[in-house]
Amino acid sequence: MKHLNLKTATFIFVCIFSFSLFTACKKEKEVSEVQKMLKSMTLEQKAQLVIGTGMLIELPEEMTKFMPDSILAKMPSGFNGIVKSKDTNYIKMVEKLWTYLPGTAGVTAEFSSLNITSQVLTDGPAGLRIKPIHKNTNQTFYCTAFPIATVLASTWDTQLVYSVGKAMGEEVKEYGSDILLAPALNIQRDPLCGRNFEYYSEDPLLTGKMAAAMVNGVQSNEVGTSIKHFAANNSETNRLSVNTIVSERALREIYLKGFEIAVKEAQPWTVMSSYNKINGTYASESEDLLTKILRDDWGFEGYVMTDWGGGSDLVAQMNAGNDMIQPGTPQQVEQLIELVKSGKLDENILDRNVERILNIMLKTPRFNNHSISNKPNLEAHASITRKAATDGMVLLKNDNKALPILKDVKNVATFGVTSLDIIAGGTGSGDVNEAYTISLFDGLINGGLTPDSELAEIYTKHIATERAKNLKSGNFLTDFMGGTVPVAEMSVSKEIAAKMANKNDIALITIGRNSGEGGDRKAESGDFYLNENEKEIIQNVSEAFHKNGKKVIVILNIGGVIETASWNSLPDAILCAWQPGQEAGNSIVDILKGDVNPSGKLAVSFPMSYDDTPTAKNFPGQEVKLVGEEDDKPDQSGFSFMKRVPWEIVYEEGIYVGYRYYNTFGVPVAYEFGYGLSYSTFEFSNLHLNSNKFEDNLQIYVDVKNTGHIAGREVVQIYISAPQGQLGKPEEELVAFAKTKSLQPGESERITFKIAAMDFASFNEKNSSWVVESGEYILKVGASSKDIRDKNTFTVSEDLNLETVSKALIPQQKINELKK
Ligand code: BGC
Repeated sequence: MKHLNLKTATFIFVCIFSFSLFTACKKEKEVSEVQKMLKSMTLEQKAQLVIGTGMLIELPEEMTKFMPDSILAKMPSGFNGIVKSKDTNYIKMVEKLWTYLPGTAGVTAEFSSLNITSQVLTDGPAGLRIKPIHKNTNQTFYCTAFPIATVLASTWDTQLVYSVGKAMGEEVKEYGSDILLAPALNIQRDPLCGRNFEYYSEDPLLTGKMAAAMVNGVQSNEVGTSIKHFAANNSETNRLSVNTIVSERALREIYLKGFEIAVKEAQPWTVMSSYNKINGTYASESEDLLTKILRDDWGFEGYVMTDWGGGSDLVAQMNAGNDMIQPGTPQQVEQLIELVKSGKLDENILDRNVERILNIMLKTPRFNNHSISNKPNLEAHASITRKAATDGMVLLKNDNKALPILKDVKNVATFGVTSLDIIAGGTGSGDVNEAYTISLFDGLINGGLTPDSELAEIYTKHIATERAKNLKSGNFLTDFMGGTVPVAEMSVSKEIAAKMANKNDIALITIGRNSGEGGDRKAESGDFYLNENEKEIIQNVSEAFHKNGKKVIVILNIGGVIETASWNSLPDAILCAWQPGQEAGNSIVDILKGDVNPSGKLAVSFPMSYDDTPTAKNFPGQEVKLVGEEDDKPDQSGFSFMKRVPWEIVYEEGIYVGYRYYNTFGVPVAYEFGYGLSYSTFEFSNLHLNSNKFEDNLQIYVDVKNTGHIAGREVVQIYISAPQGQLGKPEEELVAFAKTKSLQPGESERITFKIAAMDFASFNEKNSSWVVESGEYILKVGASSKDIRDKNTFTVSEDLNLETVSKALIPQQKINELKK
């Protein structure tokens, strides 16, 4: 290496020194600015800042018209636009804040005389959720409905997810929000969780990397994120009171890991604590979770807010480090003031929490006088969502190259209600108000194909008749928030199928499912399983089209896993399009026509049947009888739609979630984690390691070659199998992954990975430390968790004790955990 000359070295030194000095000064200035503000605040103002200003819920006129005043009077503050406070100044302030961004989930207090600005907090994971139509203006405020998180994870492409985050963040900033209440990164523990569509994966590494990319992308706009729902919130049934009973090891390795990666790699501005209890304590009241783990172990620097109406004890929340209560009520403000005055809450704790909120405030667009344009680049974002969706769709089956469809295929019969009524995303706060959604029918036309109009008319009539029945989902929140309930499939007779097979070149059948917060799905026909009409469509259409030598393609327009094993032999191809966002139809047609070569891989396993899942016997939990039950009061958080039912769910499967279970216990699945086909083929070769003895880290090299005839991308997955040791280990664990660039036929790319001991460490509950046991490890490179293409080994010569962390979240009862 050349030696630096003295001049250059001095120059570099001066630069580094000045930069450090500048950063230190800036930090100091911020500290003193915050300190000044804090010193000037009254107790009332502090209380008003840590308690959100309520959520404006405008009830539809049809609902309130006949409602007696006595019922309206009982509604929480914010309902029907009424602020229920005795303090008229406070009411004035809140009414003003609520005009800032109609449809936002929350706003924090502002005190102009102290230069304390409001923070506008807005959902959610698939894009900004605001009201598209505002009073007194013709301008519209539509946002982009990006693909759901599961699609993004199925791209296995962190760069792409970063670009989606960047686009989302631009909408946050330009529409005047400060913090996006996303990403949501709970583990998809069970296929039936109603919010799985908002979550990335069953694997914590994939989850964490996706979340970090999303946070970095959003925050590159100098707006914030709130990673949620922290933590172990993997079901919706009785979500306000469910007690998740889970071992420390499963928590650290599975349920906290994704959050840990996101905090360490992206430093989100805020974290949203979850509704549930963990081992007996509400997440929002758990000092173990919010201080010991989040701040002490991981170094989180922002503030924590509750989920909307989460937890119940203000003092416990404040002490635990749950800095802000959302959405908050004026009564909670009064209560907090009282708690400080009576000495039940130490004012220093309140100050600490206020300080954290102010520190973040300094970074917000509102504080920094960003002038809101209300003109994000929706056109550019539509292209991003179209691309992200195609890259996350997973081709599950493609017999005899049924796809891409041949150039001479023109006439297309589209069966299934979601061909016309496509589902862009799930319901609840994860739903976006987009300007349009491209149906499959329209996508086909845009792609130069001709969908059968006679069939479309039959479906249009069926949809209209069913919609006129005012369909309800059975999930209170979905119905309350106007979520899309898919219309039930109509039956398709053999005659119609035959008629369509005679006049069309190919059949597409969509199967649609939707769900959302406040309810879980069911292991029943019409939900996890296909219903009779759906089975009949696949049966009759396959028979008729195959008789004519024509292909049948099934397209899954779903937000969570469904059963496929009993019917997947019938069609020629199956494309899992998930819920792909507003460009849905265009994205699907890009894949069908081969304009985009599919490269998505499953971020979650598709079991053969629901009973095969490791969590089936512990989902969604059960009611418990508690002595002296205090949680049964209806309105503890001041914002409660539902009565709290004492409920618990025991994670008996421990660390054996998803493929960690199926692969270890030899349980066959329909489609495994990491699986997905391409129109091309890829060969992996030259797997080698920098050393077969593990020192500080391991470098892994592998060559990937496109051996097919179409350009495409492949996902390279690195799994490790650990030797038999003290701690049971899953058969395989994902430790790294990468996606190739687009490789032309015959082109190769060398992929390099670097993994550290922490990437394959286990959590030892005995001394709360991350350890790697000595022995011979097998390193596998695969195109899926089952399709392992090559292996190598390395040894760890002695046990490694990597890091001792806080003893925290200890279960109060013995868990009968699954062991290998
Ligand atoms: C959801 C959160 C959401 C919040 C605000 C809650 O019901 O669980 O994910 O961010 O509402 O809308």
